[in-house]
Amino acid sequence: MPTQEEITNIVESTDMVELVSPYVKLSKQGKSYKGLCPFHDEKTPSFVVSQDKHLAHCFGCGKGGNPIQFLMDIKRISFMEAVAELAKKNGIPLKEAYKPKQKQDYSLFYEMLETSARFYHQNLTLTKTGKEALAYLYKRGIDDETIKSFGIGLAPKQKDSLYKVLKEANYLEINMMDLGLIEHNDQGYYDLFSKRITFPIKDEDGHVLGFSARIYDNPDSNQPKYINTRDTFLYHKGSVLYHLDVAKTEILRKKRVILHEGQMDVIASVIAGLKEAVCTMGTALSMDQAYALKRYANHAILCYDGDKAGIQASLKAIQIFKQARMSVHLVLLPNGMDPDEYVRSFGGEAYAEYVESHLLDELEYGFEVAFLNANLKDSFEIETIKGRVFELVRQMPSQTAKEKYLKLLAGRIESTYTAICSDYSSFTKAQPITPIVEEDIYETPIEILPIEEKTLIKSYELRLFLYARHSKQRAMEIDKKLGDSIDAFCKENREIWIALVNNYYAMYDDFNDALFCSILTEEQKKVYLDNLESIRGAIEPYTDEDLECILSKMQEMHIKIVNQALTNQILLAKDSEIKKNKLAEKFNNKKKSMLNKRR
Ligand code: UTP
Ligand code: MN
Repeated sequence: MPTQEEITNIVESTDMVELVSPYVKLSKQGKSYKGLCPFHDEKTPSFVVSQDKHLAHCFGCGKGGNPIQFLMDIKRISFMEAVAELAKKNGIPLKEAYKPKQKQDYSLFYEMLETSARFYHQNLTLTKTGKEALAYLYKRGIDDETIKSFGIGLAPKQKDSLYKVLKEANYLEINMMDLGLIEHNDQGYYDLFSKRITFPIKDEDGHVLGFSARIYDNPDSNQPKYINTRDTFLYHKGSVLYHLDVAKTEILRKKRVILHEGQMDVIASVIAGLKEAVCTMGTALSMDQAYALKRYANHAILCYDGDKAGIQASLKAIQIFKQARMSVHLVLLPNGMDPDEYVRSFGGEAYAEYVESHLLDELEYGFEVAFLNANLKDSFEIETIKGRVFELVRQMPSQTAKEKYLKLLAGRIESTYTAICSDYSSFTKAQPITPIVEEDIYETPIEILPIEEKTLIKSYELRLFLYARHSKQRAMEIDKKLGDSIDAFCKENREIWIALVNNYYAMYDDFNDALFCSILTEEQKKVYLDNLESIRGAIEPYTDEDLECILSKMQEMHIKIVNQALTNQILLAKDSEIKKNKLAEKFNNKKKSMLNKRR
């Protein structure tokens, strides 16, 4: 760790106002500066920055601190990363050993992509040929300011325009090709994007990584509507999130993110004042992307197209967010519209209002989807809707929820609750049961166990943390041996464990509590420090036998949990003999495979 003296030096060399300014619009008030807090949503400024004291503080939520703390919180980086960044910024040399592992230097490539983006942007805004594309954008409600802030551009129709620009700037062909900008055939080098409106796609730090390019002059041609940069060493469609570089401060502030299907929808949301909007690049949401968003907020709002494809994609994305243990709400736009169409039809204000007042939870969304495009005058269609709702209701875990939705259904189709209940009960008897998916077992919480055993597991968890703090090698060994049994950990400790082995030890070789805490969320930090407190003074046994013993006990507990979960399911499955047998079979297989894994 850097010495106190070095840290003081870094803190005192930093201009706090300059550091905060990109995130908060500050205005001078007497000796200090004031602005809207970037860490919580507020209307009147309570975030105060003192230049002399090198401090920031929010009188609303209490967040703030010295430059290092501010940078850690706003950029979600570790203590050492913040120290290294500030040292570099202020030209303070830092001992090699303190520096976080050096990432590869991509500055040359970032420059090339930035040059390309600038060229496209200028070609759109400053040339005669840009006029037609500009007119198209204006028609879609995108004004000059938006074009500028999103860096929208136009790839010219000459097929080697970008190539010439990059060549002129002395960049190498091999690099242009590696970045997915230029290709080569017998006639020479040519641009991959031409005659298309370009949207630069950036990483979280604002480096351009690639482009998405839309056709605008000939919508009926056989060309795809958008072409995006292919996957390169920088651009990975499965991990990039459009607009996150700008949205992240708003996501942090509002404690929620809005996820769309396309960049036009993101732009529409931003125009409507919802700056926390991002989208994936024509791919389904990945686990990676969910975790990237979770670093800023625990709450996601899915606002996909209101058509069939959008609904399908939403249902998948819900599962991904749930796996990342984020809460999800959904917005279902009327008439199969996408957000951009809604904004163009009804205006930004109406759209923002619609979003805020139509946030549906997963069940409400499922219920609404069942009614989509249905004609309630047609008795056949009513039967279809009933089937859909009944299926949804059957999967609901609580009796209260079931009752609520059966009542809602009765109201919507103008029937009575009694009639609906009777139909529902015939439905559950007649329909084959959908198979239970493997995940169900693991989703079953540890709550299933009696209190004494939960306490026991907790004590094992704490001891495993003691061992894992000892060294990286040990932590990795334990993690490997734990395998599936990690599922027996309580939710909080499971997350902390994953942060330790997957994130912390990926960056640092030695263990340090303060450093580790800096990569945890506030909640996790609290649980972790509580853990430490409860084992303070415990003698660290550090024997292989002790460790083996804990690991095998953990496996036992895990088997117990799965066992209990499956038994519960069998008991619940009283209405179907087949289901019972299936479960019993599954239960035996699971038990066998788990026993085989035991060492
Ligand atoms: P959409 O077809 O919903 O486009 O595709 P959109 O956002 O409504 O676009 P506009 O309003 O017609 O201009 C959603 C996303 O899927 C990707 C793009 O990233 C797009 O934003 N996509 C779509 C492609 O990659 N290729 C395509 O041909 C179409
Ligand atoms: Mn659209």
